[in-house]
Amino acid sequence: MLLTIRKYGDPVLETPCEQVADFGSAELRQLAANMFETMYGNKGVGLAAPQIGVSKQLTVIDVSAGEDSSAKLVLINPEIVSREGQQLGEEGCLSIPGFREDVRRAMKVRVRALDLDGKEFEVEGDELLARAIQHEIDHLHGILFLKHLSPLKRDLIRRKIAKLVKAGEW
Ligand code: NI
Repeated sequence: MLLTIRKYGDPVLETPCEQVADFGSAELRQLAANMFETMYGNKGVGLAAPQIGVSKQLTVIDVSAGEDSSAKLVLINPEIVSREGQQLGEEGCLSIPGFREDVRRAMKVRVRALDLDGKEFEVEGDELLARAIQHEIDHLHGILFLKHLSPLKRDLIRRKIAKLVKAGEW
């Protein structure tokens, strides 16, 4: 099922999410499946639960954009345990459509998370996967990529979005 993606301005996007406490339920599995479908349907490589209005620490990622089923990742209550290096690259967000900006991120990260059954695992990623992991985990803490931009750039984007809201185009 395709879910509605919340856009910048919706308070759920800037609210830290609660940890997931119930595992192994059909409901949780369905939520993750719907999030993958919504992410693919919107040509994204990551989607976090608050983006569909669920304030829970759950995110789905697939940097292969559906090409490689082994690239599908579900991260629940994730925590970055190590970071290495730096990368500067363009980043966008399904909740801030039409805006892309360069964001500095760690080049490589290692993350510890729980899967849909509540089983702990660790995964490591670099380049685009590292960027997606950092972007999505930020979402779970109520942080949007705009927060990583200079105040000047951030204000410019905010003003453009305010105009779109006024015009009924957001
Ligand atoms: Ni995003």
